[in-house]
Amino acid sequence: MLTLEQAAALNGSMVTQENLLLHAKNVSYAMGALARHFGEDPEHWQAVGLLHDYDYEKYPEEHLQHTKEPLLAAGVPEEDVRAILSHGWGHCTDVKPETNMEKSLYTVDELTGIIQACARMRPQGIRDLEAKSVLKKFKDKKFAAKCDRELILRGCELLGLELREVTELCLEGMRPHAEELGLLGTEG
Ligand SMILES: [Fe+2]
Repeated sequence: MLTLEQAAALNGSMVTQENLLLHAKNVSYAMGALARHFGEDPEHWQAVGLLHDYDYEKYPEEHLQHTKEPLLAAGVPEEDVRAILSHGWGHCTDVKPETNMEKSLYTVDELTGIIQACARMRPQGIRDLEAKSVLKKFKDKKFAAKCDRELILRGCELLGLELREVTELCLEGMRPHAEELGLLGTEG
């Protein structure tokens, strides 16, 4: 099983840009909350979340094509590599999310982007951000326009959860780490 320590070391060997490191951490903490919801191991899911964009900075045009071999060679278990590949389902890979960990990663990768953008513009940041505010911004297609709403809804459907529930879980996972995530808000 991939550990957080291994994931951080491997990710740190490839990812240097601050915004990408923050994205990885947001996804990681959201994954921890989803794991707790499903009664799974939060550290394991967080580790997979942290490592999910391993090759993106170096190969933005060939995302997830430089992931499988190096990670397997580094000793990352096959199921964890598969989970990482499945978050690109339909756009970078044809690996369909099957497990709850895979479905969660697929969904929170995009959803945490909207949450991050919401939190950043508020005085109190993520500290008092509620799911209903995120859902309002979710409907505004011009807000954080790069975050793929259809993909997120497809992910929720795969998970069998409402968008509101997944949003609440992400907030729960991310909120305790507001400072590390730069989400204390404009008055933070
Ligand atoms: Fe990502």
